[in-house]
Amino acid sequence: MSKPRHTDAILNAFPVENGELLIGGIPLSQLANRVGQTPFYAYDRQKITARVAHLRQHLPDEIHLHYAIKANPMPAVVQHLAGLVDGFDLASGGEMHVALDTPMSSDHISFAGPGKSEREIGSAIAAGVTLNLESETELETAARLSEAQGIKARVAVRVNPDFELKSSGMKMGGGPKQFGIDAERVPAVLKRIGELDLDFQGFHIFSGSQNLRPEAIIEAQEKTFELAYRLASGAPSTVKKLNIGGGFGIPYFPGEQPLDIAPIGDRLNELLTEKDKQMPEAKVIIELGRYLVGEAGVYVCRIVDRKVSREQVYLVADGGLHQHLAASGNFGQVIRKNYPTLIGNRMGETRTEQASIVGPLCTPLDLLADKMELPMAGVGDLAVILQSGAYGYTASPHQFLSHPMPMEVVV
Ligand SMILES: Cc1ncc(COP(=O)(O)O)c(C=O)c1O
Repeated sequence: MSKPRHTDAILNAFPVENGELLIGGIPLSQLANRVGQTPFYAYDRQKITARVAHLRQHLPDEIHLHYAIKANPMPAVVQHLAGLVDGFDLASGGEMHVALDTPMSSDHISFAGPGKSEREIGSAIAAGVTLNLESETELETAARLSEAQGIKARVAVRVNPDFELKSSGMKMGGGPKQFGIDAERVPAVLKRIGELDLDFQGFHIFSGSQNLRPEAIIEAQEKTFELAYRLASGAPSTVKKLNIGGGFGIPYFPGEQPLDIAPIGDRLNELLTEKDKQMPEAKVIIELGRYLVGEAGVYVCRIVDRKVSREQVYLVADGGLHQHLAASGNFGQVIRKNYPTLIGNRMGETRTEQASIVGPLCTPLDLLADKMELPMAGVGDLAVILQSGAYGYTASPHQFLSHPMPMEVVV
């Protein structure tokens, strides 16, 4: 049996001209000169725009599309998305500052995540950002700070559902979890919200992420609506917002196929018809991170050495695990697999060889591509890791071994 490959759709996602990958229409070597250094991350604005358009085409018009800033909080990326999506989801006070610098109204910004500090909760209240409450402690803090500021905090309950998103890269709901308030505990919390002077918004039910199976996403969405209807009967006021999570994945590894969102859109149309009967005033939100930005980004590093050790070719790059932890396989992967990788200035090279791309760190974990069939490459060439627009730059331990920082650009 032949080894699974990355799909051509991924490998050919960026056009090629004169043997050079074009990122944002710019030949890679020229882009490297423009950035002025390697390594760098580049995010293609046009691809982000096209991705949002693709979603809009397949999802019902009534769906409010939110961007989960954690996937890529670069201010220029978030600014660009502010003009495309209907809202933002935050995971920290730092992300709140980035979001509030954009024209996005705070009516459409929500803040989830366990362990919110008093300072973060206070800022969210002052800004009019909806707090997706992760615990009863957060509820009481929000009520206290709300009273102190004389502003009714907007609150929603993040529910830890009684089901999970099957076959997900990351399960964030179902069973015991640090996220959200267990569904069975929610009625008591809703009662308490009713006793406090707070502006109840609705529910946030996020069950998982990085899912490539439409049927699993559809099943979780069906269960999410059912759970919301059950919980709504105990709500202190009408449900204005129902955030049904996201979980749309992107293919990273050999053999993985892109997610087909058409069936999800079709089923959502039916689910929304029912929702209009059960919860007519609720806006339905889908919250996506990597699906919006992941495929629009590349990580580029330069080969600085070429070594052959006992017949194995090593291309040593000026970037590695400290700048792209996920591509090294150390960001939640159980079995290390290669990200789609190209030699971006040798796209026309027909001679190939099996090579490993490693970084400059003194650890065997610093492996960007393990024994991949790549065009023959050497010192000065540019290695490109695709699918790097999400959980790349900010999900990496830059300080590890004190190398210079990578740059980030939007093109
Ligand atoms: C609450 C919440 N929203 C959104 C996301 C974004 O997930 P993804 O980037 O896979 O869409 C996550 C991921 O962990 C999350 O926890």
